[in-house]
Amino acid sequence: MDPKLFNPLELGDLTLPNRIVMAPLTRNRALPDGDVPHDLNATYYAQRAGAGLIISEGTQISQEGKGYIQTPGIYSNEQVVGWKTVTDAVHNAGGRIFAQLWHVGRISHVSLQPDGQAPVAPSPITAKSQTFVATGFADVSDPRQLDTGEIARVVADYRKAAENAKAAGFDGIEIHAANGYLIDQFLRDSTNKRDDAYGRSLDKRTRFLAEVLEAVTSVYASTRVGVRFSPFSSFNDISDSDPLTTFGAAITRANDAGLGYIHLVEGETGGPRTFPPNAIATLRENFSGAYMANNAYDRQLAIDAVESGKADLVAFGALFIANPDLVERFRQDAPLNTPDPQTFYGGDAVGYTDYPTLDQVA
Ligand code: PHB
Repeated sequence: MDPKLFNPLELGDLTLPNRIVMAPLTRNRALPDGDVPHDLNATYYAQRAGAGLIISEGTQISQEGKGYIQTPGIYSNEQVVGWKTVTDAVHNAGGRIFAQLWHVGRISHVSLQPDGQAPVAPSPITAKSQTFVATGFADVSDPRQLDTGEIARVVADYRKAAENAKAAGFDGIEIHAANGYLIDQFLRDSTNKRDDAYGRSLDKRTRFLAEVLEAVTSVYASTRVGVRFSPFSSFNDISDSDPLTTFGAAITRANDAGLGYIHLVEGETGGPRTFPPNAIATLRENFSGAYMANNAYDRQLAIDAVESGKADLVAFGALFIANPDLVERFRQDAPLNTPDPQTFYGGDAVGYTDYPTLDQVA
């Protein structure tokens, strides 16, 4: 009998044919003029349509939400048209794809921002972090604090991005609330020092998240929406004095919004999968939808996690970069291609659409 990892999962009215998910992966291969997805991106995603679900790379909801060169956006007409070629290619190959909606907040650089402005953040605290701009790696710029009155405009940008995702043919969306980007900056007490309705108390720190979820679930059925958190990651210079309590409250907001799934980076972003004993199980108790696990899983760990009920879905990043037919390889327990980190970020088809399938190797 097939392990449960290879069995379908019902996500609301959407049937995922297996529990193996392609994680959101920044690849910096949108067209440089306008951050528009194009045919090469469509080929890449369609090659990976065997996934139970594909989650797109982080896709900025506005130019203000951009933090790196050549990441795709979903706020202009050209971007929506470009994404439509991607979703059509995935659907024609039998797949399903969600758009990951992204606002980087303070993890940006003036050269990427509209009119060279400062990036925005909950509080004016500069991250000890770097980004990648036209001239190479650069320290992130000093951010300015979002005014209380501006926050509704950012929430509206999320709503518009969700509408655009729908117009572009995405099957659903994932809200990026992980890895030290804008929503994570609001959630955590190291980056949110606000005295207004969006800061200090747990209820107020999770309010921005709740407003974003309310906005996007007015566009997509709530079961077609997921959210990604990284409670125990310090990626992008972020921390919290009590992650279990903070993310317990954030996950309760996701539960209250009726989301289809929560997606946790278990431990440090990019590994290792280390967190306080029972912390993930404790956090999960706050959510009644599907649980998607991520971080340095391999085939056997994923089979065991789903079999034991520790996860409903398991997302794979680097392994999906290197193995377009990862599901088939897992099914056969076949050898895997090795990912090449040199070609993860930026470039062309090399290290992007040229990893061979089993059929091509044979
Ligand atoms: C990255 O570009 O390195 C990156 C982007 C989004 C993430 C994590 C890393 O969530």
